[in-house]
Amino acid sequence: MKKIAVLAGDGIGPEIMAQALAVLRALDLPLAFEEALVGGAAYEAHGHPLPEATLALAQSADAVLFGAVGDWKYDVLERRLRPEQAILGLRKALGLFANLRPALCYEQLVHASSLKPELVAGLDILIIRELTGDIYFGQPRGRRTATDGHFPGTEEAFDTMRYSRPEIERIAHVAFQAARQRGRHVTSVDKNNVLETSQLWKDVVVEVHKEYPDVTLEHMLVDNAAMQLVKAPRKFDVLVTGNLFGDILSDEAAMLTGSIGMLPSASLDANNKGLYEPSHGSAPDIAGQDMANPLATILSAAMMLRYSLDLAPAAQRIEAAVQKVLEQGLRTADIWSEGCQKVGTRAMGEAVVRALG
Ligand code: NAI
Ligand code: MG
Repeated sequence: MKKIAVLAGDGIGPEIMAQALAVLRALDLPLAFEEALVGGAAYEAHGHPLPEATLALAQSADAVLFGAVGDWKYDVLERRLRPEQAILGLRKALGLFANLRPALCYEQLVHASSLKPELVAGLDILIIRELTGDIYFGQPRGRRTATDGHFPGTEEAFDTMRYSRPEIERIAHVAFQAARQRGRHVTSVDKNNVLETSQLWKDVVVEVHKEYPDVTLEHMLVDNAAMQLVKAPRKFDVLVTGNLFGDILSDEAAMLTGSIGMLPSASLDANNKGLYEPSHGSAPDIAGQDMANPLATILSAAMMLRYSLDLAPAAQRIEAAVQKVLEQGLRTADIWSEGCQKVGTRAMGEAVVRALG
């Protein structure tokens, strides 16, 4: 029996989580679900967005299924008490360093893409972003009065881009291993013509690649990658990159697929334990109205089965069921178009359960 920590969170979190759980339960797998409060809901009940008990549950579980957290009403709180801090706290405590975001364009939803249908039909790429290093966390950082540069004597701010060899090694392994489950091609994205960190990145990726002779490796500069993602996105299979470039490229890739309500994500540690969540937030504007698209969360549950629980066939059953409900013409409001049947959160989840076959 594997233990799944279920953290539904705020806003639409509980609504979309209920549907993901219904789908998982229908599969009749050896999984035990334990729920805990997180985000604003945890702050209301316990005065902290990530209470000890929630963290302990996440740490003892085999995987974490996460809904979404946040609401504008918490903007007045000091930073450490805001709902979103729970995600950062979980990432840190669980050592989640690899963020996996598939960008998959369903044939039925090509019109929702920011690109021409012929460019994205059949698109199926996986962006892997390093999550714990890079300029977001590198020290030193701060503000001071400049003593050199273009304007000495004026206020300046600085951040430090840093990557260590082991940090790059472990994310490279994640990328090559993921590629083995897909198209066996990795594109490593950096800026090695300018940055020292990127030169180390490239060197290390080349070394790790020697252990994966069955996977092809290509290097691409980040500015070119940004262009290629909108020019010929289907040429990618697995794209691996650092924290900063990955932040930007993963959002760019998200727009290739249409609605954010369709996009799952995974954050993994060194032992494939992970936290799985939709790429979107808590959508307070539509919470409690049975309007949210539950498919991103349902597809995140499928990723959990594949990457943390070694249940790839069950993951495929969920993904096929999602494909089937789209073929049936069912659409939540965010992906609705003329001629399709508009359904709510619950009806969409129930349709996926029926389509599991
Ligand atoms: P958001 O992703 O919650 O919503 C953006 C827009 O997309 C809204 O119009 C929303 O209605 C729509 N949307 C999002 N998910 C949807 C779904 N499943 N089905 C249909 N429509 C959907 O981002 P926003 O509005 O910037 O943030 C809202 C709150 O969520 C904030 O408190 C923010 O901090 C938090 N947030 C939490 C995240 C997390 O829990 N990982 C990630 C991003 C934001
Ligand atoms: Mg971002």
